[in-house]
Amino acid sequence: PFFEFGLIGLGVMGRNFILNVAENGFRALGYDLDPEKAGALEQEGQQVGQVAATTDLSEFVQRLERPRKIMLLVPAGAVVDQVLDQLLQVLEPGDIVVDGGNSYFTDTDRREARLREAGLHYFGAGVSGGAEGARRGPSIMPGGAPGVYEALRPVFEAVAAKFRGEPCVAYLGPGSAGNYVKMVHNGIEYGLMQLTAECYQVLTALGGFSNRDLSKLFHRWNQGRLQSFLVEITAEIFQQPDPLGDGDLIDRILDKARQKGTGKWTSQNAMDLGIPVPTIDIAVTTRAISALKPARQQGEGQYPKPEPQTVPADLLETDCEAALYFGFLMTYAQGLHQLSAASAEYGYGLNLATVARIWRAGCIIRAAALDAISGAYEEDPGLENLLLSKRFVPEIIACLPAARALLVRAIAQGIPMPALSASLSYFDAMTTARLPMNLVQAQRDYFGSHTYERTDREGAFHTHWKKT
Ligand code: 6PG
Repeated sequence: PFFEFGLIGLGVMGRNFILNVAENGFRALGYDLDPEKAGALEQEGQQVGQVAATTDLSEFVQRLERPRKIMLLVPAGAVVDQVLDQLLQVLEPGDIVVDGGNSYFTDTDRREARLREAGLHYFGAGVSGGAEGARRGPSIMPGGAPGVYEALRPVFEAVAAKFRGEPCVAYLGPGSAGNYVKMVHNGIEYGLMQLTAECYQVLTALGGFSNRDLSKLFHRWNQGRLQSFLVEITAEIFQQPDPLGDGDLIDRILDKARQKGTGKWTSQNAMDLGIPVPTIDIAVTTRAISALKPARQQGEGQYPKPEPQTVPADLLETDCEAALYFGFLMTYAQGLHQLSAASAEYGYGLNLATVARIWRAGCIIRAAALDAISGAYEEDPGLENLLLSKRFVPEIIACLPAARALLVRAIAQGIPMPALSASLSYFDAMTTARLPMNLVQAQRDYFGSHTYERTDREGAFHTHWKKT
């Protein structure tokens, strides 16, 4: 029999994704060089049916219906190019290759051009939701040739997570649009995680919250406007016992956060575009600070912290909830602002309401707030920044006193809250008509004759600054 969908790379993500495809009624064939991985799919596939695996690439290609639809779920980087080298030998014009990994967007553009020369179609499609999402419904962010997406649509819409029945997948734009959107998704993911971690620290340090208290609190928050995947799993994390000893697992985990690079890419590209994403930048930086454990330990020994002062738990809870929600909104605002600039710069033609809509379920940054965010962009497709949306202005105003009060307390106590501070400073700067950058311009002109503009007339001016 011929198979309708092929998948290369039968690691956990690949295996789960293809099982999801088969379960949704598509005959699916998996390929992996490793016989154990191919065997594992055949084994698990027995219950699902219509799924098979092979370790032979030419058999894989021969058994797929034309035009072939082949998805790669292999590690981003050189492996993708190696697989493409092999596929270029055996595929035929019209076949479609989809890269489901976290590939860097310029790699996708390069690969798309290369496959196009051979008459093949190439899609970069970010897939979010981890192993569980791949099996039960991820959010999928595909980009590539517009007409060609129709061939992928039935499979992707069937396997994607559903939000009120709507699939969390949509064609996003040409070229690397899908990988770019997934990259920014991950940048936002970094910001939200950092903000959550800061709440953990301040609740523990100023409120004496136990892991049990934290679990309950995050669980409660997850019933309200903070409802989100990350808040939900945080509640679960705090009640996980240590499998290797007494106590809670969270207390035994080393405080050094690793990263695979997508958050850093988001920040780097935002800098290239000249778009501020400080909450994401600082989340990347804080992972780097976390890695410097010996220096941090030495530092703590040399600089005493202020005497701890406790804050009543109910007050802290209320402030943290509002501050965290405020931080979440600032992070989405920054990521979406970056997407709107990238869309103009790279010709993606992104619809930000659609982007927010397909993030409402399946992905790591899914959150109740995204429904209103997609609504804000639907009402006003030209919206430059979410914080200018009429829908959000009153809500943001209402969060501000709590965010400010929490930060004042944390700063006074020497508790670092880099992402919340960055979010608030971002907000304050973005809502201040006159910033002190006239002084920066004067300094630039003073030492480098870089010229400045004036507030009262057109043109570029240079002054021979007087030394006294
Ligand atoms: C997802 C995640 C995933 C990402 C991990 C790890 O959407 O399912 O974003 O794609 O690879 O979260 O990221 P870091 O190792 O960089 O933290």
